[in-house]
Order: sequence, then C-alpha cells, then structure tokens
Amino acid sequence: MSNKFYDLTALGPLYHNYSAFGAVSIQCKGIFKENQEAKEPIILEYLVDSIAAVIMKYKHNANSEISFAELFCADGYYAMLAERLGVDTTVGYDNDADPNGFFKMAPKIAEALEMEKVHFEKEDMNNISALPQCSIVANIGGLYHMSNPEEILKKSYEMAKDFLIIQTVVSLENDRADYFISPAPGWSWGSRFSRSSFDCMIKRLGFTVVKQSFNELRGNANLSDRGSIYYLIKK
Ligand SMILES: C[S@@+](CC[C@H](N)C(=O)[O-])C[C@H]1O[C@@H](n2cnc3c(N)ncnc32)[C@H](O)[C@@H]1O
Repeated sequence: MSNKFYDLTALGPLYHNYSAFGAVSIQCKGIFKENQEAKEPIILEYLVDSIAAVIMKYKHNANSEISFAELFCADGYYAMLAERLGVDTTVGYDNDADPNGFFKMAPKIAEALEMEKVHFEKEDMNNISALPQCSIVANIGGLYHMSNPEEILKKSYEMAKDFLIIQTVVSLENDRADYFISPAPGWSWGSRFSRSSFDCMIKRLGFTVVKQSFNELRGNANLSDRGSIYYLIKK
C-alpha cells in the first residue's frame, strides 16, 4: 500500500469519495456519500475475504494470476480498490449510458492514482457471455438496472472462476417471496425484487453463500430503491 498523497480535486465531482486511496477528492452531491457509506464496508470485507482465499488456493502455483472484474463499474471504484488490495489484473465494465458520464472518468481517476493494472471496457452487460472468465467477479450496483436480472446473475456466476460478489437494490415496499417487477416502480427500465424474493432466487440457483448482508441506502428516498443486499458466493 502506497503512502503517497493524491489530489483528485482537479477532476471535479466524482461518484465516489477516494479517501480509501489516500486521496483528496470532491464527491457529487446528493445520494452518493450516504450510499457509499452503506455499501463500501461490506463490499470491502467481501473483496478482502475473496482475494485472501484465492491467494491461498493458488499459493503453490507461481504462474497463477488473480484476476478481478467489476460489472456495472461507473467510475470503477471497486475495480481500483481490488488493485489496491493486490490483484494482478482488474477490469471495469460499463455501457457508459449514464448521462453523468461517470464511466468516462474511470481511466482519468486510475491515471491520477497511478494504477497500472486496471483497465476499463465499454460493454453492455447483455453481452456478458462474451467476456473472459476471471477469478473474482463483482456484480455491484447493476442488477436492478436490468429487466433480465436472473439471466445476468447466472452469467456472472459462469464468468467467475472462484468467487462472485453481488450487491443490488431491493424494494422495501414489501417482503413477498414472489415479488418481481419490471420496469422498476417509477422507472421506465430496470426491475425490483424484494429482499425475500431475491434470496429465494439465490437459493433456487443453488449458489454456495459464504456471507450475506443487508442494509438500507439512506440516500435513496423511495422505499422501492432503499434496500441493499450483498452476497459473497463461492464456486
Ligand atoms: C449505480 S452504478 C454502480 C456503480 C458501482 N458499481 C457501485 O456499485 O458503486 C450503475 C452503473 O451501471 C451502468 N449500467 C446500467 N445498465 C447497464 C448495462 N446494461 N450494461 C452495462 N452497464 C450498465 C450505468 O452506466 C452505471 O454506471
């Protein structure tokens, strides 16, 4: 871990706060701070656990690489965090459709943080089957944008050689075990599960759950956008 100080303020307001990188940065106003504070500690824990397990798995194979991919990466925060935590290669995928242009900032942030192992590819997750397999896949903050989340989830699992990290938004309007709606309430795209119906899907798919968690995205006003579920899945 570098002790260097980085100044990202010249890049303007960013999706995430980069203090975990020893950087000073400006974060976008609105929902971003509270939602990062809810998500990051849990995702960081799953990153550390999965990277440590993969290091132990491959410790007798000097030629093995630990590869990481963040799907729906926006500014690529977690792809970069994986580099900081020691993976050999890391890639962030996003379709760059967000009007705020967060994905365009990803390579600029990586350059400013002097990261050499991370790169970014513009890709729609409906094309996920074409992506190369890697040790750890993090499907974070994206499934609720999709009208076909179960299909994307199954393909994310196939893409992961060792671990799949999942985070997505669930509705707190109800906790019905059969709840699924697309488009998402108040949106013209996406979808929503409830906490229970998402968990039923995980069980039905037969995934091996190492850890799971739940909290609220307090930055999001609507109950349908406020639940946040997390899974660490082992292959
Ligand atoms: C909420 S952000 C998630 C950012 C980051 N992964 C996190 O959790 O902090 C969702 C991102 O998904 C991207 N996205 C939405 N639909 C997509 C699709 N079909 N294919 C690829 N990316 C998509 C958006 O461009 C946006 O950057």
